[in-house]
Amino acid sequence: MGVLSLDAPRTLTARAAPAAILPGPPTLLWSLDTEQDGRVLRNPLLRVRRGARVDVRLDNQLDEETTIHWHGLRVDERNDGSGLHPVRPRTSNEYAFTVTNPCATYWYHPHPHYRTGYQVHKGMGGMLLVEEETEDELRRALGLEFGVNEMPLMIQDKQLDGKNQFKYSFGEDDWIGNRMLVNGTPEPRWTAQRRLTRLRLLNASNARPYRIAFMAGERLIPYWLIGTDGGWLEGPLRVTESYLAPAQRLDVLIDLGALDAGTRVRMVSLAFDAMENDGQPVTELHLEHPGAAPIGQQLELMAIDLEGPARRRPDLPTRLNHIVRARDGKPDRVFRLHIDNGRWLINGRNHHDDMDRARFEVRRGSREIWELQNDTQSMPHPMHLHAFSFQVLARERSPRHITRIAHAPGGLTAQDLGWLDTVLVWPGERVRIALDFAQPFHGPQMYMFHCHNLEHEDQGLMLNFRVIDADTPESHLATDGSGHPSTH
Ligand code: C2O
Ligand code: CU
Ligand code: CU
Repeated sequence: MGVLSLDAPRTLTARAAPAAILPGPPTLLWSLDTEQDGRVLRNPLLRVRRGARVDVRLDNQLDEETTIHWHGLRVDERNDGSGLHPVRPRTSNEYAFTVTNPCATYWYHPHPHYRTGYQVHKGMGGMLLVEEETEDELRRALGLEFGVNEMPLMIQDKQLDGKNQFKYSFGEDDWIGNRMLVNGTPEPRWTAQRRLTRLRLLNASNARPYRIAFMAGERLIPYWLIGTDGGWLEGPLRVTESYLAPAQRLDVLIDLGALDAGTRVRMVSLAFDAMENDGQPVTELHLEHPGAAPIGQQLELMAIDLEGPARRRPDLPTRLNHIVRARDGKPDRVFRLHIDNGRWLINGRNHHDDMDRARFEVRRGSREIWELQNDTQSMPHPMHLHAFSFQVLARERSPRHITRIAHAPGGLTAQDLGWLDTVLVWPGERVRIALDFAQPFHGPQMYMFHCHNLEHEDQGLMLNFRVIDADTPESHLATDGSGHPSTH
């Protein structure tokens, strides 16, 4: 994968070129490439310090529009790389911004209207780590060395045809994969030292959620969740499983020093009820995901073989972060996620009905509570907000497999206790989130709120909203019946 530090201006070239993924013919891989020391890095892992200036030129060598969206980063509209600002074929665009996000695992991927799922499935995108002082300290205290006992793991499922090419046909469900790739590698195996190990997980799959667990034989190995999409938890939380929806990240510690040499630890996705109840006829093309491993089926993601002498685990810090919890209350806006005649809708509208317009406006600096209501006859939707992290306040009417792993009042899971930019809303569920629209920019900024099942996004389960200056008169705030403008 290659690591690229964003400490100087860089160019990423969008292009398609063969890659050796499986034995046999090479796979045509679309990627964002750069050169470093005479080597081509494809979809490099980007590392950047908090507070640093990022200066990246996207050079689009593809025959179609693309963008780079900095998923999770607090950027202004111009730098957000959403479908509102496509970069035409054979042209380039400069992304320049200051990184203000806390240290955590983020990522970058293309985001052109209608084509995000396709381009990501073809391979484009990679991880982005924001790092800072407090993290250097944690690494020292826990003896973590990046690339040795700290590993970034980008998880994806793909279908490949008999000629080793990624299969993606519109209208079919072959974006649900039958092969698991971790950092682009099928059936990954890692020989690890027997010591405390940090894994930085990203689900970069188009549409498949995972239920992440670690097993030795039939035994579940507990692990600690220390961070989520947008930063660290207050302190490490011990869990045995955690859902990881498309676009979400988990920062995890696992004590491999407590296990015998020769042990094989497997990172798996445990079986779960996929709840695909969207009321569409169950034809062969639908829900069955032809050729794919059904969603919710148990999957092997990676094998970790342990070797060498065991190192005793250092004490984990009890406090990692200070999170001022927002208070639950009456929602300022309600978003119903539903399907009608095979069309995904938010409050009765599809993004393709009003692609260039803002559905509503929020004042910069205001705080709001949003309630996301998923219909019962629906699918799980990982709902993602651009440019802001949020807190989960409460889950109601959750399915059993979520209430079972509740960790805190309000039906919150361990993952819900961290900063998220993507929250999985199960069929029938109501999830309230708290948002703070403070940002250092001026003037109107249009962003998106959408399902990160990329095929749902491309099919318009998405809306635009605009952040406007705090002193804009109330009457200018448009609403669409999704609630009233905030008066906080
Ligand atoms: Cu990761 Cu709007 O997307
Ligand atoms: Cu995003
Ligand atoms: Cu969805």
